[in-house]
Amino acid sequence: MKLEGDRLKGIIDAIEPIKDPEIGISIVKLRMVDSVEEDNGKIKINIKLTVPGCPLSSTIEKDIKKTLEEKGYNDVEVNFGFMSKKELEDIKDVVRREQIQMPQSIERYEKKSIRKIIAVYSAKGGVGKSTVVKLLAETANSMNYKTGILDCDISGPSITSLFNLKGMTYADKDGKIIPAICSILEIMAVDMLTDVAAIIWRGPLVSSAIKQMYNDTNWGNLDILFLDLPPGTSDAPITVFQSIPVDGTVVVTTPQELSNLIGKKTIVVAKSLNIPVLGVIENMSYFVCKHCGEKNEIGRKDAKLDLPILAKLPFFNDLDEEKEESINQLKIAVGKIVNE
Ligand SMILES: Nc1ncnc2c1ncn2[C@@H]1O[C@H](COP(=O)(O)OP(=O)(O)OP(=O)(O)O)[C@@H](O)[C@H]1O
Ligand SMILES: [Mg+2]
Repeated sequence: MKLEGDRLKGIIDAIEPIKDPEIGISIVKLRMVDSVEEDNGKIKINIKLTVPGCPLSSTIEKDIKKTLEEKGYNDVEVNFGFMSKKELEDIKDVVRREQIQMPQSIERYEKKSIRKIIAVYSAKGGVGKSTVVKLLAETANSMNYKTGILDCDISGPSITSLFNLKGMTYADKDGKIIPAICSILEIMAVDMLTDVAAIIWRGPLVSSAIKQMYNDTNWGNLDILFLDLPPGTSDAPITVFQSIPVDGTVVVTTPQELSNLIGKKTIVVAKSLNIPVLGVIENMSYFVCKHCGEKNEIGRKDAKLDLPILAKLPFFNDLDEEKEESINQLKIAVGKIVNE
């Protein structure tokens, strides 16, 4: 039952002094307290975070429980959701009035005219994320979906070389970046903005480059935008998951046990940031003997990730020549991703 009147006021007054640890303003002032319920003596506080999966949510939970315990409420549950774009805009006014600098991470961008934004991710490097992005994008394109790729790997971009793209990109008359067009696929990557030999940037610069490439590119209408993520759990993937309105993640693994363990870690990261994990693409899963055509499985098969397998791709000796054999699987995967 939702609390109202004096009982609600008592609880709100008690938690009013608790500040959002990142912004430094009261969670009540920031309108983060969505509602308060009472259920068989248990007090449930429903909090709306400014960013999904805010790493500081546990601090807020601890503060609320401690404060209410001191007031005699011993059975308290804190639940988390997150704010809509409109609610975020409203709290920006509160922050401005308090003349406090809004932290970078609070920026969450609009969906624009893009139907689905799909992050292709693995915490492990070299499992074939970029290759899978290329295959999925080409397949989506062949199914007449208007498709784009944003290479979110700032320090090791590989999409331009996978598509043999050369040269820099331009801005249109409104100052928006025009993505490169490759067989009607729209592509944007940091190496189309700068020709330095290697980008050696720290986290905040990497984060702002990713945000800028997403937000300042004129994507037009797209059915699907694939995000090629860098490996790891550093600033770059977290920025993508928190700032870009990602609809879902496709996890890439290889059959080796280590990769599966890291696959699990990958899923924990995506889930803790409230991003639905759509399924797994098992890459380099088997190879086909050139001489006899026999299909040979590679690696252990007993590690399970409890997620739908969207496709199992072979080890390609020549990707461009052999990818046709996987096209049906890839089409089914794209169909699921677009319609999920
Ligand atoms: N199915 C495959 N068959 C054969 N080679 C593959 C396959 N998938 C990927 N590779 C090769 O493995 C290497 C790593 O692939 P890729 O760059 O796509 O991985 P990644 O996960 O994006 O790497 P990073 O973590 O560095 O971004 C590349 O040389 C690529 O050509
Ligand atoms: Mg890559």
